[in-house]
Formats: sequence, structure tokens, C-alpha cells
Amino acid sequence: MPPKKKNTGAAEEIAALRQEIARHDILYHQKDAPEVSDTEYDLLKRRLEKLERDNPSLFSAESPTQKVGAKALRDFKKVRHAVPMLSLSNAFSAEDVGDFIDRVKKFLKTDASVEILAEPKIDGLSCAILYVDGKLDRAATRGDGEEGEDVTENILTIASIPRTLPKDAPERIEIRGEVYMTREDFLKMNKQQEAEDGKIFANPRNAAAGSLRQLDPAITAKRPLKFFGYSLGEHSAVIAKTQEGIREKLAKWGFDTPEPATVVKSAEALVEFHADIYRNRAKIPYDLDGIVYKVNDIEFQKRLGFISRSPRWATAHKFAAEHAETTIEKIVIQVGRTGTLTPVAELTPVNVGGVMVSRATLHNEDEIERKGAFEGASIIIQRAGDVIPQVVRVLNPGAGKLFKFPKKCPECGSLALREEDEAATRCTGGLICPAQAVERLKHFVSKYAFDIEGLGDKI
Ligand code: IVH
Repeated sequence: MPPKKKNTGAAEEIAALRQEIARHDILYHQKDAPEVSDTEYDLLKRRLEKLERDNPSLFSAESPTQKVGAKALRDFKKVRHAVPMLSLSNAFSAEDVGDFIDRVKKFLKTDASVEILAEPKIDGLSCAILYVDGKLDRAATRGDGEEGEDVTENILTIASIPRTLPKDAPERIEIRGEVYMTREDFLKMNKQQEAEDGKIFANPRNAAAGSLRQLDPAITAKRPLKFFGYSLGEHSAVIAKTQEGIREKLAKWGFDTPEPATVVKSAEALVEFHADIYRNRAKIPYDLDGIVYKVNDIEFQKRLGFISRSPRWATAHKFAAEHAETTIEKIVIQVGRTGTLTPVAELTPVNVGGVMVSRATLHNEDEIERKGAFEGASIIIQRAGDVIPQVVRVLNPGAGKLFKFPKKCPECGSLALREEDEAATRCTGGLICPAQAVERLKHFVSKYAFDIEGLGDKI
């Protein structure tokens, strides 16, 4: 969260934000271990951008707002990008999308509608793969946008990436795209890592990044990585007149491309496409963090060019925040069918991506201690799809009395026990416990067991 505003003025807040953002950049790009959500990070960066705009005298070329990502790691050979790998500007609302289209038209000095290609923004790790004389020659990560890491050996372990291109490919052409992992592969991999006492990754994006940036490519080879191609870096000949044409060519050459994609001519149609994908994102097997809009005509793209770190011809329309800040009003214990005691935080209701949330799970006793949860705590919660909202972190741990996990079942007063090596605490009351009795009956009549029609939750 943004550091508290200080009375000493903008200079100090700017310095604090620069330091904080630089730290998060390193955690995210080099350690694959972010401490904040993308939404929180965006908030910090936007606050800093605003302060820097309002105080031009405090400009610094060293500010994280002037850089893309973080410097490349030392251990990999460095690669200088012939064409810098830049970032995308963001749109967060329908209004921002309208502004993007207006800016494009104004710059092109046209009143006519402009074709825009929209495709998913993949939450992975960007990579540039250079082909020389039709052969995969070298692959590099983005790094700071100017200089990345040479990950050729690692990229060669990804089966879905073509090793060669057909004869119609230019002599030199760099395919840019995203290395990613499906959610299913990520869960499987984490399970295996757990069994082997290996590193557990927080999400598919970190898992993909951590797996690609292995100094030993034999480790990368064991990881379920995939690649989507979506744009070009340097190229010695033109391969298509439109972004759509580039996608088609890439697909013909054997690359996977982000699906679904569409070409439309208005901000309204873009917003509709965005809403449609957002609603259906649970059905897409990999994580998306928004939709990228690109001016379809390559000549137009050239005319539009770049502004500071991002192209004028593209923008990323991010998905609604799935994180929000609120307060724990009370922590209650729920007793499940098997007697498991689950601590649930009752919250000051808060809107998370369009849904009001008033309860979030705290999982178990260890989780309460790890997070430092207490009644009255300020917290960040997370909601994704239909899963139960979760407490991601306590913003002010230690500022109140840590919640004490009960030694007795709150429903029947029986002893609550925690087996060694187990995270769950269980009520020992069995069917004496009214909560367990009801939950067991519910399960018994449910579609997962006897499937007794007409007898459900309410009755
Ligand atoms: S086009 C000049 N298309 O998002 C950059 N980027 O936040 C043109 N990304 O650096 C990039 N999916 O790593 C493009 N379908 C997509 C993308 C995509 C993910 C990444 C890319 C970029 C970052 C910007």
C-alpha cells in the first residue's frame, strides 16, 4: 500500500515510493517472489507517476517509472535487444478505452474508424526468440527492456516452440511472446515440488519465471512450460500488413497464439469483448491479466510510434481488481462435516471486482499466526472466480492481539484436537456435535452421496 502521506512534501513521498517500487521490481523480476498483488503494485506506480507529473522538477531517469522491469540477473549471459522490449500503457475502465481510441485517431488525424485487434494478455514471462536463416538462434528474456538474459538453452526445452521456420520466413526475424504455465500444470508441478521438498511457487506466473530462469536447463526441461507468440522484434523483411496477419503467419509457422482474438472498430466493441472474456476466464486454462488492444494496421503502428516506455498503438485493458482493502470485524470458527474448525474473518463489506464480500477464510491456526490476523486488523483480501475469498495479508500485524485459536469446539464444547503434522484442528465430538451432525446429514442427502431430491440445504 502507498506509504502514508508525509507533511514534509512530495519529495519525500516520491523518494519513498521509488525505493518501495524498486524493491518490488526485484522481488518480482529477479526473485520470482512478489510480496504485493499486481493491483497493489499498479496503485503504487500510478501514485508515483502522478506525483512526478505534478512535480516535474523532481524528475529522475533512475526512477522506476522510467524503466521496464528490473536489471538482468548476473549469472546469465546478457543479450542486448536490437529493438527494445517495451511495456504497455494500461486502461482500467471503458472511459480509458475510449481515450485510447481517441488518442490514436487524433494522432493519425482521422475521423474514420480504426481497426483494433484484441487478444488476451497472458500473465507469464515475456521472451524474444531470434531465428536466423530459419533456425532458432537465440532467446532472451526482457530484463530491463534494453538488455535481457540469454535463455536459449532453456527455451530449447519447450516442445511447443518451433526449432525451424519455413522457407517464407525472413532471413532474420525475432518472435516475441509469453512463456507461461497452465493452471493445471502449475498445481501438478507444485504438488511434485512439495513431495520432493522443492520450491513452492505462489502462482503460475512465478512458476513459469522461476522455471525458465534456471541456470541448469535440465531443470527447465522438467517443467511444463508453454509459449504464445504475439509480436515481432527485429525482422529483415515484412511478413504481414496487419497485426492479424502476423498472428496468422505465426500460427502457420507452428506457434501457439493467444486465443480468442478479434478485430473490431469501436471502443464499445472492445469493452464488450473484454467483459465477455472476463466472465469466461475460469474456462480458459491459463491466467490472463487483461486484454491487449493493438492497432491492426502495421503502417499505422509505425506512424503512431512510441511514447516514453510504451507503444502509442497498443494498450492493456486490465481486469477488474480482485484484491481489496478492508477490516476484520470478527473472527468466527466454522465447524465442518469432519469436525474441522475453520477460522472465518467477518469483514467490513467491500466491493471486489463488482462483488460485495463480507467473509473470507483464514484456513487454519498456522495461517492465523503466519499472517498475524486479529480482530480489527486492516487486510487485503483476494477473490478469484467462484472460490471463497481469502485473506492475502494483514497490513498492520502486531497492532492488535493475535486471534487465539480455541481449545474447544465452539458448537458442542468438546475438545478440539490437532494431530501432529496436521494443519487442521478437529472437534472430537463426532455426532454429539450439532454442527457435524447437520453437515454430515447435508452431505448424506447431497448429489455427492445419496442424492435425495428435494432434501437440501434449507430443509
Ligand atoms: S504486445 C510493446 N500482446 O504484457 C509491447 N504483450 O505489460 C507489445 N503481454 O511486455 C506487447 N500478453 O510481455 C502483447 N497478447 C499480448 C501480451 C503481451 C502479455 C505482456 C508483454 C508485455 C507486457 C506489458
